[in-house]
Amino acid sequence: MQLTIAHLSDVHLAPLAGLGPGHINIKRALGLANWMMKRRKVHLRSAVDALVADLERQEPDHIIVSGDLSNLGLPGEHKAALAWLEALGPPDRVSVVPGNHDIYCRLWRDAGVERWRAYMRSDAAGDRLARAAPGGFPYVRILGNLAIVGLNSAIPTRPFMAIGRIGEPQLEALGQTLARLAASGHRRLVVVHHPPLPGQADARRGLVDAARLEEVLVEYGADLVLHGHNHIDMRAERAWKAGTMHVVGIASASMGRPYKEEPLARYNLIRLDTARTGGPIEIVSRGLMEREGPVGEVGRRTLRVARSG
Ligand SMILES: [Fe+2]
Ligand SMILES: [Fe+2]
Repeated sequence: MQLTIAHLSDVHLAPLAGLGPGHINIKRALGLANWMMKRRKVHLRSAVDALVADLERQEPDHIIVSGDLSNLGLPGEHKAALAWLEALGPPDRVSVVPGNHDIYCRLWRDAGVERWRAYMRSDAAGDRLARAAPGGFPYVRILGNLAIVGLNSAIPTRPFMAIGRIGEPQLEALGQTLARLAASGHRRLVVVHHPPLPGQADARRGLVDAARLEEVLVEYGADLVLHGHNHIDMRAERAWKAGTMHVVGIASASMGRPYKEEPLARYNLIRLDTARTGGPIEIVSRGLMEREGPVGEVGRRTLRVARSG
């Protein structure tokens, strides 16, 4: 079965929705200043809309959104992001993991990203194979012979911190889940917001337990790990006992204008044969060709997985 999966991330939807005086704390005040002075001018809704229109023309079988749909983790933003997800596709066609801007500070009694749960849960086939930790992650979705494994790396953090943590219960559940999926002959694609390997983000922005996540991934194996967070394209690989695991990060899907080293909005199309265990994975990057310009192909490469499975 030939599959095409679209991967987009760090949508940072504008405008800010539902900001009231009751939501302001030090972290949000700093985040708001950053949004008003910098990010608001570059994360453009028109860029996201152009990318999504192009993505729909590619007719992907499935869409993965790897977090940071919002900016200040506000309930109003979670509701706006849910409406955006519903326009993107039904929950069985779209898989989501939360980012640090979605779980930004404690929300007390508010449902927060639980509003997106239909997009962040195992399907019937995945439910039989997943071992979820409290909190419902990892979840598993089965497409042909491919398993999409969604992790939650987002935790509320202090001001100036964008760190993430998978946590020991989720790491343990991930190991068990990957082992079961390997035993049932599935190709494995893991999704997480933060870059999963040590050193891929600095101490104020990275995954605090990246070394443990790397250990679990290398022990149990996967063909591909997708992430966002750094707003740049990234690529790394690790050898594991049955082949090569590729780690691919995608830039922000809403960058309408150049900002620092961050490229204009783009997304990846991932093409693979789910039945061909160890078969190559093709990654086609599509994005804005110029500032507020048309969307076209910006890169293409083939990843060799070999012997995986
Ligand atoms: Fe982001
Ligand atoms: Fe992030």
